[in-house]
Amino acid sequence: CPNRCFYFDEIPSTNAFLLQYTEELQCGDICIAEFQSAGRGRRGRKWVSPYGSHLYFSMFWHLPLGMSQAMGLSLVVACSLVSVLQQLGADNIGVKWPNDIYFENRKLAGVLIEMTGTADSGCNLVIGIGVNIAMPQQQGELIEQPWSDLRQVISDPDKTLLALTLQQQLRKDLKLFEQSGLAVFTERWHAADIYLGREVRLLVGNESVSGCYQGIDTQGGVVLDTADGLQHFVGGEISLRQA
Ligand code: ATP
Ligand code: BTN
Repeated sequence: CPNRCFYFDEIPSTNAFLLQYTEELQCGDICIAEFQSAGRGRRGRKWVSPYGSHLYFSMFWHLPLGMSQAMGLSLVVACSLVSVLQQLGADNIGVKWPNDIYFENRKLAGVLIEMTGTADSGCNLVIGIGVNIAMPQQQGELIEQPWSDLRQVISDPDKTLLALTLQQQLRKDLKLFEQSGLAVFTERWHAADIYLGREVRLLVGNESVSGCYQGIDTQGGVVLDTADGLQHFVGGEISLRQA
């Protein structure tokens, strides 16, 4: 049965839209908008979402796994996006744990996964992806960290092709994740991880832990080599920063 694409010129948030209808959606249904008036990032942060050729993309998925197994999902989605950008000709695309896509140390895209109906039998997910394609300088000034856009990476980026390839790649990778877990993505993740082997600071709530970043573990958590030995960190309120 074919998937649906809900297309809007303007909407508060493509994630918020799909979250209203998770009971009626099928895996792979997507929502795309040209402009988001309330684009959101992790933990209530804003995703700057002006008009222009940017991708604001959300996809519904039902994951037949428990919450704890869904932990590594943003890493899988980030790997999918890296593969898609590579298929479109991009080199040197990096990932930063757990949900950011970078080009030359500047943020190019972000992933926000929201869940409803979580139970051990499975959860309904809305996978949101924002990719800057041609950010006007004036709008870029609203972003509080160094940013990049796809036109700096490849010539003539094609938004429709990006969206279609992304939907296909996500379907493939999510099925692979369901069957084989996160382990099969570890290599792809580490190949793109911008902090691997570098000194970092991990912000855990109000605390900061320093160490040499060793990459991800089988749960999708961060592994740090600290003064107290190897430590693993998993969970929501964690941010990774350059030391
Ligand atoms: P972390 O997830 O490690 O805390 P982060 O600062 O990137 O890192 P996120 O919640 O992942 O936090 O992303 C939201 C942040 O992304 C915003 O606070 C802003 O700094 C940045 N941002 C917002 N819009 C854009 C955009 N269009 N392009 C690039 N970056 C953006
Ligand atoms: C982040 O880096 O914090 C994640 C940003 C995710 C932005 C996308 S744009 C499409 C979807 N709709 C939203 O409101 N957010 C996501």
